[in-house]
Amino acid sequence: MLRPGRAGDRARLVKLMGRVWGAGAAAHLDRGWEWQHEANPWVPPGGWYGYVLERGDDLVGFISGIWSALHVYGAAHRLIWATDLMVDSAWRGGQGRRLAAALASEGPLVAGFPVARTRGIWAALGTNVRGCRVRRHTAPLDLEATLARRGWPSMLAKGASRLWARVAHRSTRRGASTSGLEVLELADVPAELDLFWSRVSTAHAAIAVRDCAFLRWRFLDCPHHDHQIHAVRRSGELAGYLVERLALSEGGPVATVVDFLTARDDQQALEALLEQAFDNWRARRVERVECCLGAACGRLGAALRKMGFSFGHERTRLAYVTANQVLARRLRERSPWYVTAADSDLDFF
Ligand SMILES: CC(C)(COP(=O)(O)OP(=O)(O)OC[C@H]1O[C@@H](n2cnc3c(N)ncnc32)[C@H](O)[C@@H]1OP(=O)(O)O)[C@@H](O)C(=O)NCCC(=O)NCCS
Repeated sequence: MLRPGRAGDRARLVKLMGRVWGAGAAAHLDRGWEWQHEANPWVPPGGWYGYVLERGDDLVGFISGIWSALHVYGAAHRLIWATDLMVDSAWRGGQGRRLAAALASEGPLVAGFPVARTRGIWAALGTNVRGCRVRRHTAPLDLEATLARRGWPSMLAKGASRLWARVAHRSTRRGASTSGLEVLELADVPAELDLFWSRVSTAHAAIAVRDCAFLRWRFLDCPHHDHQIHAVRRSGELAGYLVERLALSEGGPVATVVDFLTARDDQQALEALLEQAFDNWRARRVERVECCLGAACGRLGAALRKMGFSFGHERTRLAYVTANQVLARRLRERSPWYVTAADSDLDFF
């Protein structure tokens, strides 16, 4: 039987996650349960638990979602990011589609990032998979350490890293561009961020909500990662923010730029945020910085290139389904979605 999920399904869904993805993923689902299904500011009162497939006493399938709101040139539409789709291996064959169709019926807009195994499922829903390309960009900070760990002889690693530092220094030389801007670390999300969000969001073709409630929930209350939020001010007024986190990967510290937002044409503000973040990372001997970025962040991409980011491989594409024809037409227009790692579950694991 396919039915809406309930709070009481938690233990059996954690078990199912363990059977499909292993113990680490099961612990992840358990840890994030209240946060994702009850504390998210956009879920209906009382919580929302996706859809489940029930067979006797067992739960053999699950699809979940992250509730949000997509602003299309300033008009807000309810958005559910599809996530956690899984079917017990003994019951596969058509069940993934049933679960996805149930989620799509929650409408008006369901979106996600298909992987090889779910492309057919998204296609069966009649989705538009050209919503947006998402690429992962990387900037080395301690190239010598990275190359040494990959087995480069130390002289070669040192030489390559010096050469890169010279090139990077040329392109990241600070100029007058970021003077007059003040960057600070935030322990909380300031109330003025709501004003900033309503000011800058209207210039975007499609951007998921990034107001105070979202930032507090997504970053400060996140049970999966610790985040650091930096804000930039111009003449005392908020001009942008950047969210980052540190993790150990392949033995070296890696920083991830999870999210950022400035006015659409305010490259200076982003550069100021990045300069400050790079200083912090160098002081902490961070080896490289990663960043997930959708095509709509093109101008911001230029700032990243200036800081030494390479334009990485395509990681995924965004897919969405909507029964609202007017919205569908607007979303098909040329401008793609603004996407960072803060959207959907791109940065949950
Ligand atoms: C993805 C999953 C839910 C599909 O369940 P299902 O009941 O088999 O789903 P359906 O039969 O409705 O659709 C599956 C589609 O994906 C395709 N597919 C399944 N496994 C695949 C794989 N490893 N590589 C490529 N395509 C795959 C199927 O061929 C089918 O598409 P088609 O009908 O066009 O051929 C199930 O395989 C699963 O739980 N996998 C492990 C968890 C997972 O990968 N979740 C998705 C990412 S979060």
